[in-house]
Amino acid sequence: QRTASGRLRIAIQKSGRLSDESQALLKRCGLKLNLRDQRLMSHVENLPIDILRVRDDDIPGLVMDGVVDLGFIGENVLEEERLEREARGQEAAFKPLRRLDFGGCRLSLAVPEDFEYAGADSLTDCRIATSYPNLLRRYLNEKGVPFKSCMLKGSVEVAPRAGLADAICDLVSTGATLEANGLKEVEVMFRSMATLIQAPQPLDPERQALIDKLMVRVNGVIQAKE
Ligand code: PRP
Ligand code: ZN
Ligand code: MG
Repeated sequence: QRTASGRLRIAIQKSGRLSDESQALLKRCGLKLNLRDQRLMSHVENLPIDILRVRDDDIPGLVMDGVVDLGFIGENVLEEERLEREARGQEAAFKPLRRLDFGGCRLSLAVPEDFEYAGADSLTDCRIATSYPNLLRRYLNEKGVPFKSCMLKGSVEVAPRAGLADAICDLVSTGATLEANGLKEVEVMFRSMATLIQAPQPLDPERQALIDKLMVRVNGVIQAKE
């Protein structure tokens, strides 16, 4: 019932910060990928594996629901989905397989350059734009800082200039996006790397054996670079 084909299903980001390195890692593990076209699903030629290319934000849910067997995802997006599901009383289980050596970034609070920031209390009653409402709430609740949130799935960095928010909570990698938008990073909330996760449901022995074999290769590839 799970898959008619019996092939292992791996989800990776379609386009974004994690896509190139996720693909490169799979290739170094010996998978013959044919990802030239824009198809959602592609077959690995030399192993019984299918690759699904989707939006990064969808990957944790696909793994937790067992729709795919493995997912390459940022810990930031994974933790946000876990908190979201917990808040809704939904199942949020997955098996962590391995932290990867790419996709490093931080989830930070940032304010306009002329904002006089003297610690998290400066954000009291501010409106904060973010795509990570659960991580933001956890962080500021722990500090006892009341705030209002403004949920934006994209273009978070333009919210202060557009008058939609006083501050933002967003991912920072090089810092170029903040700089280009006249914002300064004032607080690091969460440090994230890419990570590889497995669905919580037990798999048939063949597919589990294939995952075990793949993980030996993943470990080898990453250790060879260290
Ligand atoms: C993040 C974030 C910024 C950018 C910051 O987006 O939302 O847009 O990266 O990077 P920088 O500090 O190097 O400028 P992400 O790549 O996660 O894409 P997504 O929001 O579309 O998923
Ligand atoms: Zn995204
Ligand atoms: Mg972005």
